[in-house]
Amino acid sequence: MKDSNFLKEHNAKSMWHPMSHPADSLANPPAIITSAQGVKVTDVDGHEVVDGVGGLWNVNLGFSCEPVKKAIAAQLDVLPYYSTFRGTTNDQVIQLSEELREFFEPDGLSRAFYTSGGSDSVESALRLARQYHKVRGEEGRVKYLSLKKGYHGTHTGGASVNGNANFRTMYEPLLAGCFHVPAPYTYRNPFNETDPEKLAQLCLQALEAEIQFQGANTIAAFIMEPILGAGGVIVPHKSFMPGVREICTRHGILLIADEVITAFGRTGSWSGSRHWGVKPDLMATAKAITNGYFPFGAVMISDELVDTFEKDTSGKAFIGHGYTYSGHPVGAAAALACLAETKRQNVPENAAARGTQLFDGLNALKDKYELVGDVRGGHGLMTALELVGDRATKAPAAPAIGGQLQKVAYENGAMVRVSGPNIILSPPLVISEDETNTILSALDAGFAAVS
Ligand SMILES: Cc1ncc(COP(=O)(O)O)c(C=O)c1O
Repeated sequence: MKDSNFLKEHNAKSMWHPMSHPADSLANPPAIITSAQGVKVTDVDGHEVVDGVGGLWNVNLGFSCEPVKKAIAAQLDVLPYYSTFRGTTNDQVIQLSEELREFFEPDGLSRAFYTSGGSDSVESALRLARQYHKVRGEEGRVKYLSLKKGYHGTHTGGASVNGNANFRTMYEPLLAGCFHVPAPYTYRNPFNETDPEKLAQLCLQALEAEIQFQGANTIAAFIMEPILGAGGVIVPHKSFMPGVREICTRHGILLIADEVITAFGRTGSWSGSRHWGVKPDLMATAKAITNGYFPFGAVMISDELVDTFEKDTSGKAFIGHGYTYSGHPVGAAAALACLAETKRQNVPENAAARGTQLFDGLNALKDKYELVGDVRGGHGLMTALELVGDRATKAPAAPAIGGQLQKVAYENGAMVRVSGPNIILSPPLVISEDETNTILSALDAGFAAVS
């Protein structure tokens, strides 16, 4: 490794960072992370902190997961790459597909279509949804519905169903035929409704009204995250996703669960859909499928779609879609080891317990600091704080505050993520009680410094 002077000197000089302004990266160079152990990361100066971000919602088993590391290393020696395009496959991906089929059996999903990450999984699910209707002779079903505040990655299809202007405006025009309905976000919503159950009903009515307006027979799919993550951890009332399922079924619209974050235990259940007792038609997964150690994803497909595609004799079910790295043997080997370890450690159990601890701790910070307008979470290790300048008007806090708070929290032992007005916490699911307290005390120090 080059010495730390070289790294600091060149930080952000010859690359552009995702989700950053290039000038800001130059003015405020990012933390240079050089190693990690357990749930802690260490920077170029040797400063070690608890990773409250969990990589990027993906390092669920922490940074020292030996079975996944070994599986990757071993697979590189045996078969570092081969394609799964028509005519070839590999041993790892065959085994993984059987494992995933068993894992997602309770969600009613029995086939996998592999991708290189979350945005790919979303894109694949959106495309397969349109194709499903075409195979069935309903060519007119091409539109997509989604939630405002939803995050579905940054490919053009995903950005088009995305519900946050930050990821859309500069890339317009986006895909035609995408329409958004209000999210069940109790802190801010167009209905001024703070009761989660009533708000869920109002949002469902808005969905129903949009379907009537567009015409059900023009709509291919509705896509949603079971708990909205990047949009600020928006937890719907338990009636919401089942309500969406019912409406979609009644109108012949496919339900795509975007579980890039929620699959594999983060909500305290094995999947977000299962958390709400819903069976989606398609499920986009990625991130924790390999513990973040290898870029990989899978779209899981329900029996109804399986039947339509596999029994097609017209040729329309030919899948003219896929990626060079679909079913990558190293990714598949990593996923196989990761799945076994995820089950062995029964991670949803710890996610639920530590999630409650974190949520309670953040609510205590809300009692202490006026800057905290809202605390969201309580379902596993997905938690957010929304910062406000004035609790009465809910006016956003000054933009610089998040960054200042993050810096002090970092100095006090925790990496936290600032996204717009929100501080988002998504630590590894194997985090301990003490390490969770470190995140809380570091945030406490951060709030004390900026209040
Ligand atoms: C719900 C959801 N969908 C899709 C994506 C995009 O995944 P990726 O960044 O791997 O392309 C993300 C990323 O955070 C996500 O949270």
